[in-house]
Amino acid sequence: MSAVDTTRIKAVIPAAGIATRFLPATKAVPKELFPVIDRPVLQHVVEEAAGADIRDILLVTGRGKTSMVDHFDRRPDLEQRLIDRGNTARLSAIMEPADLAEIYTCRQAEPLGLGHAVSYAESHVQGEPFAVLLADEFTDPNDKLLSRMIDLQAQTGGIVLALLEVPRDEVNRYGVAAIEQTDETDVVRVTELVEKPEIDEAPSNLILIGRYILPSAIFDAIRVTGPGKGGEIQLTDAMARMLADGTPVHGIVFRGTRHDTGEPGGYLRTIVELAMQRDDLTSFKEWLTNFVAQQGEG
Ligand code: UTP
Repeated sequence: MSAVDTTRIKAVIPAAGIATRFLPATKAVPKELFPVIDRPVLQHVVEEAAGADIRDILLVTGRGKTSMVDHFDRRPDLEQRLIDRGNTARLSAIMEPADLAEIYTCRQAEPLGLGHAVSYAESHVQGEPFAVLLADEFTDPNDKLLSRMIDLQAQTGGIVLALLEVPRDEVNRYGVAAIEQTDETDVVRVTELVEKPEIDEAPSNLILIGRYILPSAIFDAIRVTGPGKGGEIQLTDAMARMLADGTPVHGIVFRGTRHDTGEPGGYLRTIVELAMQRDDLTSFKEWLTNFVAQQGEG
């Protein structure tokens, strides 16, 4: 249980990106609705928030992506069919998403960047600190990453990030943090933030993963942040501005599993990893084990 009353903390899920890494699949279908076995990626993200007792979520949608909202709505016609057939397991499965949290939506008019998408949350969060969860990645709620981040933000009053160690040659795809150790082994003080640095210029191999706890002063910082890498208004640049102005920025170095479904390789790994944990998919596990063994022989 978190030391902070997390039920008061709101989350923002920016999901208005154009998902170029997954084209052409994402031409008409949002990557956030791609199934991870039998539930969409976005449901895993909302479950992670609900696992940290967050009950109020603002989903930032964009052109062609409003079908995401339907997944969190009730479907009385389908519910009645399943009731008539006595299929209680599927009935509770289709009702579950609507019970996880209150989902509010707004629409980013143009995908001008993550910072720009987050700026839409200003009136919704009403001056309070809030969580941002990127819509194409998730962690296991049992790892309690979000709850720990929320507690840390309540102590520091600043920005709290989730950091992950990656091989050096991958850092140019992410926001990267320079850090100093603190007395707590997995909590670090962030001293510099840079978005998608050149590999030989990166200040570390600790990347920002898609979980942030932000004070509401971020909105002023975003307002004065111009386009950065890729011509987009970058959240990292707005946070770097606050850091330079004296806002404390801390990171929790995450050692659990992060499922990144934003590109085909990570998406496939996620499906296999979660399938291996499912008791109802033992025949798949057997098939996969045999398949891999055969490939090894060939
Ligand atoms: P990404 O950097 O993964 O961008 O955005 P993307 O458009 O989803 O995918 P690629 O890189 O083109 O393949 C990280 C998160 O920020 C959201 C995305 O929906 C994703 O959840 N985002 C990004 C927005 O909501 N609006 C934007 O303008 C950009």
